[in-house]
Amino acid sequence: MKNPSLISITDFSKEEILRIMELAADFERQPQQRRPDGHRLLEGKVIATLFFEPSTRTRLSFESAINRLGARVIGFSDANNTSVSKGETLHDTISVITSYCDMIVMRHTLEGAARYASEVAGVPVVNAGDGANQHPSQTLLDLYSIKKTQGRLDGLRIMMVGDLKYGRTVHSLLEALSHFNTEFTFVSPAELRMPAEYKRLLDERGLKYRELTELEGNMADEDIVYMTRIQKERFNDPMEYERVKNAYVLRREMLEGVKDTMKILHPLPRVGEIATDVDNDPHAYYFEQVRNGVWARMAIICYLLGAKK
Ligand code: CP
Repeated sequence: MKNPSLISITDFSKEEILRIMELAADFERQPQQRRPDGHRLLEGKVIATLFFEPSTRTRLSFESAINRLGARVIGFSDANNTSVSKGETLHDTISVITSYCDMIVMRHTLEGAARYASEVAGVPVVNAGDGANQHPSQTLLDLYSIKKTQGRLDGLRIMMVGDLKYGRTVHSLLEALSHFNTEFTFVSPAELRMPAEYKRLLDERGLKYRELTELEGNMADEDIVYMTRIQKERFNDPMEYERVKNAYVLRREMLEGVKDTMKILHPLPRVGEIATDVDNDPHAYYFEQVRNGVWARMAIICYLLGAKK
């Protein structure tokens, strides 16, 4: 591979996904790993984080991972403070920054922007979210969280709730879980159903799914309930967003009768779809899930840079 990048979760085979799980577990056990010469694993490297769209978790957990590995970070969290505001193209921006760093982590509003950047860049690119398309590093931390809480990835029942049309995290996660004999439940308003292309993939792989519009009373058999935010920024029609914005609110009393081992995940941020009375419930896992992002992202960076055997 000339420049291994992570643009879509489909860029990784099942074996590569499992390797990332192993590396993440290794970093969680031992975050401060060193090379035989005593230096930290990525000492001397520079990694650029380019965020053309807002982020809290993805940018800061990547930067935490980069710092823990001993590399240095350059980049921006607001493209308005860069020459993009003067009209510089994505092509030219990436062509320039590729000279300054060993890897690019990029979030962009446009679907396909990360793939394009990887074709222009002379260094590996990690897609930190492109429009409503893909968010593969989130998927790897989600898978790590699922494996940690359930002890396995194979043969689980996964419920995805909320904005299944525009939610890039559920698209990437579905593709990854399709390697693992997963049974899916999709809960969404009719307007925000899982797109046909993803359901086609499940059909091709012989995996079962059901589609519901009600959350309450339907969680009893699920191993994971993956809540998502309705993606306001992706709607063309504000009235359509107003109609669906409060479609689901998970409250503590709705968890009666669920499996003891069931965990609630959410990529965050939440904007009301999980009531705060759930936060202290033993099923809630979303704040621990966030921490897993550091281990997963350390694993991704080292894997792409070939920094760990
Ligand atoms: N989960 C996630 O992508 O969060 P941020 O938008 O804060 O990065």
